Amino acid sequence: MYVYFSGIFMSTIVSASLLSSNLCHLEREIRSALTAGCEYIHFDVMDGHFADNLTYGIPVLEACKKAIPEALFDVHLMIDKPQDFALRFLDAGADILTFHVEADCEPRSVCQIIRDYGKKAGITVSPATPVEKLYEYLDCADMFLIMTVVPGFGGQAFMPHCAEKVSLLKDEMNKHRLNIPIEVDGGINAETARICVTAGADILVTGSYFFSKPESERRRAVEMIMR
Ligand code: DX5
Ligand code: ZN
Repeated sequence: MYVYFSGIFMSTIVSASLLSSNLCHLEREIRSALTAGCEYIHFDVMDGHFADNLTYGIPVLEACKKAIPEALFDVHLMIDKPQDFALRFLDAGADILTFHVEADCEPRSVCQIIRDYGKKAGITVSPATPVEKLYEYLDCADMFLIMTVVPGFGGQAFMPHCAEKVSLLKDEMNKHRLNIPIEVDGGINAETARICVTAGADILVTGSYFFSKPESERRRAVEMIMR
């Protein structure tokens, strides 16, 4: 399947979530994901307020981007006040910067900060938030992320009702003749990927499914997800 993303057509993309990788060997894990066919590296940032966990942030992203500049970092901010941190994440090397519509922010102006910097702006909704919340931002986002688990941890089970949100958002875009990429994140494996792609998802985040495999089986894991 091909989708139009800022002037180019692209096929379904897999984004590897580092949260489930071996964090003592980040550079090696990123290279392994790229070699296996993941086009994006998904970088989950949590602040202990918005999500009930603390992960990594600006200095770690900066180190990763410096080590592997060719990697495209798909940064998922699960934090309050993303407007206060957006520029620092962009300076550190975020290529796509996604924030939550539920965060304490004005989504339109956060998108503007990101776009003015020349990078892609993503907006996401948690499972409990109606997808309709995204409709008023169709003109200012470059990507939408539908969370298929509650933000906080890798390795959770996919919530099937969230796939319906992907179809609803796709329908709404069709009405406006738009085709903005839709990403899904949480509990993605070979089976749930199929459900999401059928619903209209373009970018599939995979954490535990991918990183639990030995390196020799990771390319196959990506093929299974994209199949
Ligand atoms: C959850 C994160 C996800 C998660 C995905 O809060 O946003 O990116 O790490 O991991 P899996 O694929 O294991 O659900
Ligand atoms: Zn994520």
